[in-house]
Amino acid sequence: MLQFALRSWQEDDADSLAHFANNPEIAKNLRDAFPHPYTLDDAHTFINMASKSTSIFAIEIAGKACGGIGLHPQHDIYRLNAEMGYWLGQPFWGQGIVSRAINQVVRYGFEYLPVERIFAVPFGSNSASQRVLEKNGFVLEAHLRATIIKNGRYEDEMIFAIRKNK
Ligand SMILES: CC(C)(COP(=O)(O)OP(=O)(O)OC[C@H]1O[C@@H](n2cnc3c(N)ncnc32)[C@H](O)[C@@H]1OP(=O)(O)O)[C@@H](O)C(=O)NCCC(=O)NCCS
Repeated sequence: MLQFALRSWQEDDADSLAHFANNPEIAKNLRDAFPHPYTLDDAHTFINMASKSTSIFAIEIAGKACGGIGLHPQHDIYRLNAEMGYWLGQPFWGQGIVSRAINQVVRYGFEYLPVERIFAVPFGSNSASQRVLEKNGFVLEAHLRATIIKNGRYEDEMIFAIRKNK
């Protein structure tokens, strides 16, 4: 089984990040804040932000940052919630890496962050992402139709969540 580690982002991850993130097959499943094309400048901007966080991790495989997974605590009346986002370089898909990474990050979030619910919002067309959430005990809480516009196409919004106290 291919091994990986979750760790903080470092400045010298920029080349590897730009290499794996610059992929329309990844960007098409993410918000427009994840740019395409993904340049070295974009990588530096992201690392500058992420390296200050204690809950945004690089997915390291064979010594290189090949993807990312993070928890984003919400604010105000949503402060007991954190949104989880993740992506992985395409050469590593289908080897159970993100399924295992989600397991680790959820345990980390409920242990170290003051949150009681972790949620993720895959697009309706993103079956692989919905599958990795279901495999980790996330429940589909809402299916909103055509709330998203991505690359000029409507997408459904699938709200999956897991609770600290089930
Ligand atoms: C979604 C993504 C994170 C999955 O990462 P991964 O490491 O390949 O995931 P895993 O190997 O742990 O598991 C993938 C699961 O989805 C399943 N799957 C893959 N493609 C599928 C498809 N088209 N339809 C249904 N299931 C699919 C796999 O069979 C596997 O399930 P299984 O273990 O029951 O067989 C990765 O494909 C990715 O980075 N995609 C682009 C970015 C993205 O979508 N991010 C999430 C935004 S919400």
